[in-house]
Amino acid sequence: MGEIAGPHSGPNVRRRRYVVRGRAVVTAMATSVACADGAPSILEPRSDAARRVEGLWWLMFWISAVVVAVVIGFIAVAVRRRRAERGPVDHRAVRWGEPFIAVAGLGVSGVILAGTFVVSLRVLDALSDPPERPDLSIEVVGRNWWWEVRYPGFVTANEITIPAGETVELRLSTVDVIHSFWVPQLQVKKDHVPGVDNTMWLVADQPGRYRGQCAEYCGLQHAHMEFDVVALPAAEFDRWLAGQADPAPAPAAPEAVRGRANFLSSSCAGCHRVRGTTADGELGPDLTHLASRETIGAGLMPLTPENLADFVSNPQDDKLGVTMPPTEITGVQLDELVAYLLELE
Ligand code: CUA
Repeated sequence: MGEIAGPHSGPNVRRRRYVVRGRAVVTAMATSVACADGAPSILEPRSDAARRVEGLWWLMFWISAVVVAVVIGFIAVAVRRRRAERGPVDHRAVRWGEPFIAVAGLGVSGVILAGTFVVSLRVLDALSDPPERPDLSIEVVGRNWWWEVRYPGFVTANEITIPAGETVELRLSTVDVIHSFWVPQLQVKKDHVPGVDNTMWLVADQPGRYRGQCAEYCGLQHAHMEFDVVALPAAEFDRWLAGQADPAPAPAAPEAVRGRANFLSSSCAGCHRVRGTTADGELGPDLTHLASRETIGAGLMPLTPENLADFVSNPQDDKLGVTMPPTEITGVQLDELVAYLLELE
């Protein structure tokens, strides 16, 4: 019944092939978790909290790996034995089959599941309280499909800037459906639930930009409900905070001045706020310092003149289903509008 012996068979060649395939599978699994599409990974933690989650991940990975190896071992033994036998299986001859299934299938599985459950609870418990009293508290409001970020004194969107190395409290709420706040490199997930005030905390070890993602399916553009946590050195953060608290700068270029006039006289001003002007809408993101952010559309694309023009003229092309309708602004008017928006540093 075995393979026909030849130059490419034999136990050694076969064993080597299994080892190579096994390695390929483990590598593929690890890389798919670690760097799928350049996405942030829980396997590259940048905070103590995320390191605890990573530890739990590896614990579960290795337990699973051992279980899979043991099960495959048993299957291999069974197949080998059956091949050596002839005729129908004599079930009466297998005396320890059922007790073995009870012990290995229920007992060992039960111990493993209960054990990992207890370890998970301990990690969650350790992460429920911040390491120190947070100095800064920020409100993050989930909205279909972007994030409103409210600091004392001003409001911004889709970028949560924090001082590196310091504990920051986040108060999570929503104006529509359930969203889930997740920055894989910094913390566990926490939901935004209508009518519930959830809080969580963040610490980033080092300055840097950490990608976050809504982790609860919330409708058509759930996948494009991203954000960045931007951790700055303390002095830089203080400068950022002071800059953001200022009203919008007045446009300098004549083109941008005309853009502002267009902005204030069009429907833009009904939905967006630009502090220091008459635009006082609350439906869309606050644009007071739009040009200080790196992306538009909640992490959808980099903030460039082309992308901004595209998005402003018809957001439904880029992000189907968003509240903002096509503006139908084109040509020179669009250029002027974009020039104005890009001066909102
Ligand atoms: Cu918000 Cu998914």
